[in-house]
Amino acid sequence: NRPKVLITRPDIPAGGLNLLKEQCDVILWEKPEPIPRFALLSKIQNVDGVYCLLTDKIDEEVLNAAGSQLKVVASMSVGVDHLDLQALKKRNIKVGYTPGILTDATAELAVALLLSTSRRLIEANRAIYKGEWKAWSPTWMCGPGLSGSTVGIVGLGRIGTQVAKCLKGFNTAKILYTSRSIKHAAIQFGGEKVELDTLLERSDFIIVTTALTPDTRQMFNKNTFQKMKKSAIFINVSRGDVVDQPALIEALKNGIIRAAGLDVMTPEPIPLDNELLKLDNCVILPHIGSAAIETREEMSIITAKNIMAVLKGVPAEMPSPLQL
Ligand code: GLV
Ligand code: GLV
Repeated sequence: NRPKVLITRPDIPAGGLNLLKEQCDVILWEKPEPIPRFALLSKIQNVDGVYCLLTDKIDEEVLNAAGSQLKVVASMSVGVDHLDLQALKKRNIKVGYTPGILTDATAELAVALLLSTSRRLIEANRAIYKGEWKAWSPTWMCGPGLSGSTVGIVGLGRIGTQVAKCLKGFNTAKILYTSRSIKHAAIQFGGEKVELDTLLERSDFIIVTTALTPDTRQMFNKNTFQKMKKSAIFINVSRGDVVDQPALIEALKNGIIRAAGLDVMTPEPIPLDNELLKLDNCVILPHIGSAAIETREEMSIITAKNIMAVLKGVPAEMPSPLQL
């Protein structure tokens, strides 16, 4: 009696897909785009487990559509803000996610995005193609260096810690962080825990790696951008909703801050007429934080293992599904 598992996208990496196919009857959403709501509501009806992505909102309505045999929802992501954790807990449905494995890849991307923004890589590259590179110039395409700078990491978790360790290698002078608790790992990079306002006032580079929760939603707004240095560079690799995006656009247009690098925004994908796409001082990427080949493969395997752990009643190898 093989369990039934819904996978909400056809192109998940082979490792996880094969694992599930070996042991379950897999129902695959066949189209490359995110599963539409009506299809999710219908396909979830008879399954024991769901393999989902951060583009799938799993809320009361979806869980009501599912039968009482649904035992696990595993997301191929570290973020779980698209899952209604209360509603899942209420029904005793276990939740899987993929922290840890994507830390290095996401930190790598955060550093790449930071450097692309501060040293204006995308703008400089475009300038060549536009014929704007006339000669080497003493003042052209300059941006602030990392060496000697103060970096602020908002929400120091696994990813933020890894970003800090990388940036220490660039001879930064000081790393500040906010977190609900003192992070002992911060000793490795001399990190100092401060209040958010202090971080905003003192940092040359502000990097957001916090999870999206009711507390962090829109925590970057007109008020917080005002508190930053005019020369500040703002990097977000967490979730778009931690930012009041119109306020960010205003801050970028009016020189309240120098520049922003965003791997996440609202909505995703961003409409092509969005103002963010018109700003030279904004580097924008299509949510590719964890998109290292090996990482995505591993994320699919962990997601599959999280599902099998619950359906077969054995402990997951790594990590165990979220304990709610
Ligand atoms: C990516 O944003 C993730 O949550 O894994
Ligand atoms: C966030 O979830 C992290 O792993 O840093």
